[in-house]
Amino acid sequence: MRRDPITGVVGEPLPHDSAHLHVSGSAPYTDDIPEVRGTLHAAIGMSDRAHARIVSVDLEKVSAARGVVAVITAKDVPGKNDYGPVFADDPIFATTLVQYHGQSIFAVAAKTVFDARRAVKLAAIEYEDLDPLLTAEAARDAQSFVLPPERLVRGDPSAAIAAAPHRLSGEVRIGGQEQFYLEGMIAYALPKEDGMMHVYSSTQYPGEVQLQVAHALGVATHKVVVECRRMGGAFGGKESQAGLFACVAVLLAHKTRRPVKLRMDRDDDMRITGKRHDFVTNYDVGFDDLGRILGVRFVLASRCGYSVDLSGAINDRAMLHSDNCYYLENVAIQSYRCKTNTVSNTAFRGFGGPQGMLGIEQVIDDIAIARGLDPLAVRKVNFYGVTERNVTHYHQPLVDNVIHEIVAELERSSDYHARRRSIRDFNATSPYIRRGIALTPVKFGISFTATHLNQAGCLLHVYTDGTVMLNHGGTEMGQGLFVKVAQVVADELALDIDRIRITASDTSKVPNASPTAASSGSDINGKAAQAAARTIKQRLTDFAARHFGVAPEAIVFRANAVQYGPDSIAFEELVKRAYFARVSLSATGYYRTPKIGYDRKTWRGMPFYYFCYGAAVTEAAIDTLTGENRMLRVDILHDVGRSLNPAIDMGQIEGGFIQGVGWLTTEELWWNDKGVLMTHAPSTYKIPVASDVPSAFNAKIFESGGNPEDSIHRSKAVGEPPLMLAISALHAIRDAIASTADYKLSPRLDAPATPESVLRSLEEIAVRREKSRAATISTEAVVE
Ligand code: MTE
Ligand code: HPA
Ligand code: MOS
Repeated sequence: MRRDPITGVVGEPLPHDSAHLHVSGSAPYTDDIPEVRGTLHAAIGMSDRAHARIVSVDLEKVSAARGVVAVITAKDVPGKNDYGPVFADDPIFATTLVQYHGQSIFAVAAKTVFDARRAVKLAAIEYEDLDPLLTAEAARDAQSFVLPPERLVRGDPSAAIAAAPHRLSGEVRIGGQEQFYLEGMIAYALPKEDGMMHVYSSTQYPGEVQLQVAHALGVATHKVVVECRRMGGAFGGKESQAGLFACVAVLLAHKTRRPVKLRMDRDDDMRITGKRHDFVTNYDVGFDDLGRILGVRFVLASRCGYSVDLSGAINDRAMLHSDNCYYLENVAIQSYRCKTNTVSNTAFRGFGGPQGMLGIEQVIDDIAIARGLDPLAVRKVNFYGVTERNVTHYHQPLVDNVIHEIVAELERSSDYHARRRSIRDFNATSPYIRRGIALTPVKFGISFTATHLNQAGCLLHVYTDGTVMLNHGGTEMGQGLFVKVAQVVADELALDIDRIRITASDTSKVPNASPTAASSGSDINGKAAQAAARTIKQRLTDFAARHFGVAPEAIVFRANAVQYGPDSIAFEELVKRAYFARVSLSATGYYRTPKIGYDRKTWRGMPFYYFCYGAAVTEAAIDTLTGENRMLRVDILHDVGRSLNPAIDMGQIEGGFIQGVGWLTTEELWWNDKGVLMTHAPSTYKIPVASDVPSAFNAKIFESGGNPEDSIHRSKAVGEPPLMLAISALHAIRDAIASTADYKLSPRLDAPATPESVLRSLEEIAVRREKSRAATISTEAVVE
């Protein structure tokens, strides 16, 4: 079918709408908003104990410090001293107890940001130390939980494992991850008339910041407006925890009656905000000769930190992704949500899914080594089927299981088998440098597991010159949501993309919007925008039919114009005439995801509208003397349904993969035994940089027939799933380590696979190799 000759329809690889502003340094972020005269700058006074009773707080020197205008504590909170997103267990200011190192106790507004930051250091706080619980295991053993344990069972895993011809058990340790958005947390609060407050906040969830601020002030929601034009990255870190900074800025603005900006210093931002949950996963598995899993039991324990935050949904998602692409007929998953005296861990791209998937992937590798099989062969015998063995452990059937096709194509295009053989040849003659390869799959469920969040709204105005203003509840964090939604509107109204102006997320334009998260931004906001555009289109169609005396069916929107029968009128001309005929040119649109819903008590139903699939092959090399490792080549094939914008999607695929590689290979969070985070800056916490991208990096979008569900233009979400393709990098490193034991022993490799972790793994496998060699020799001696 011929497309309209307009620029920017759905499927066009348009650049990010702000690309020209990003590269020229002229895209305004919250800190770039010109400051209003009288603006004060804030800083937060943080706890320097992980767990202690507060005996006394003396802020005299703070108040007297240069430039300080106001100092506030919990006593200055007119409403509720809490910003907890789900449970009320996140005080804005700690009062009697501090529960992690870095927790907020008081705040300062001063003339300059440096005055404020210097002043908070002058507090004299007396503590009575309490024992801190720092790790998930310590908390699990002490039964310290933020939420009760959960258990999901299908079939009879115990009987299946007991009856299986082969059995194994093991443990995977999975590190956390700092979101490391390049723009740190920031909020700018401006008091307005009659007690109203306007807040610029770098947040994925303006609707929630609005509520958090209103509750802290003790005012009605309609007195607060929260606005966010763009974030310099968020990655989940700004889904719930941007609220603290907005509340502090607003409380100081309320107290001083002056505008207040709070911009976090990087080190403080890293200490005070939650990260990806680290997990310890234990498993028992029973399998047959071919490596097919007959029964498996997982026990997941995650470090949630001191409060609930989003840990319930995150650990649920880990449970719901413990299958990855594999059919687990008999499975039990026990999940412990451990309460520790560390920062409250929160959303990070994948939202527990990646941690859930790492467990089963290690199970597969262990089985492969135990049976002397290629891990890929074991993966394949365990894949969900297309028409049978296709129901997940939460009883949702897979409708379009394309993992077989994706893996088959990737095996071919990456030359997996030949390269695997040549890597083995290479390793046989290479004493120190070892290579490894792994192909790992991804299946990721799309929808918020909190079903009510799967809704979106849009506000669309058409002006009399035929230009369009688009506003929806989604936020832009670099992922390209705004341009995708604009393309949906351009497509619907057959207008060039430059006729559509995208505007800042704003709680006064679209109310009660969900967070931009769960990768669902373009799915739900795209549909809401389409609905609004269709309303406008219908009104214009009805008007044109009346106006030109033709049937509504004769009206066709095409190429910045509207055809009525054989004639045509420019879009702007029709709009002008509609205006004079008093036709409303403004519409809202609303969307709710259909079909979904599940029962969290029985773990049955349809938590996800559909699934995204993908697979990656990574070849890695390790230096067995230093533990250093790097990727040599990466091949990716990823399913985005029918892409709304392949250029944006490719950016998400490549970026998500590299971010996942950072999580699994270089980014290590390290707390000392006092619960102090010692890795709180790029000097000690290593995120990937351009030079970490492998020189051979072949990412491709899977040629899909489109989403079988009625998603926006049959596309699929893309934000989070590619991160999990990086599991192939970790497994390639494991494969390289396994070569040192002639592929007879399965390495124990803790993530991230830093040089230290790789060296530990090499040493551990060497000890086991010696033991098994000694055992073989003694058996041989007995046989003789
Ligand atoms: N891409 C960029 N550039 N910056 C980000 O902060 N966040 C990720 C992903 N991609 C992120 C990103 C996360 S955690 C999610 S949930 C999705 O984008 C959210 O946007 P979407 O729903 O519009 O895909
Ligand atoms: N994903 C991301 N964010 C969320 C979710 C989810 O499933 N549920 C609540 N917030
Ligand atoms: Mo993304 S972790 O759902 O913000």
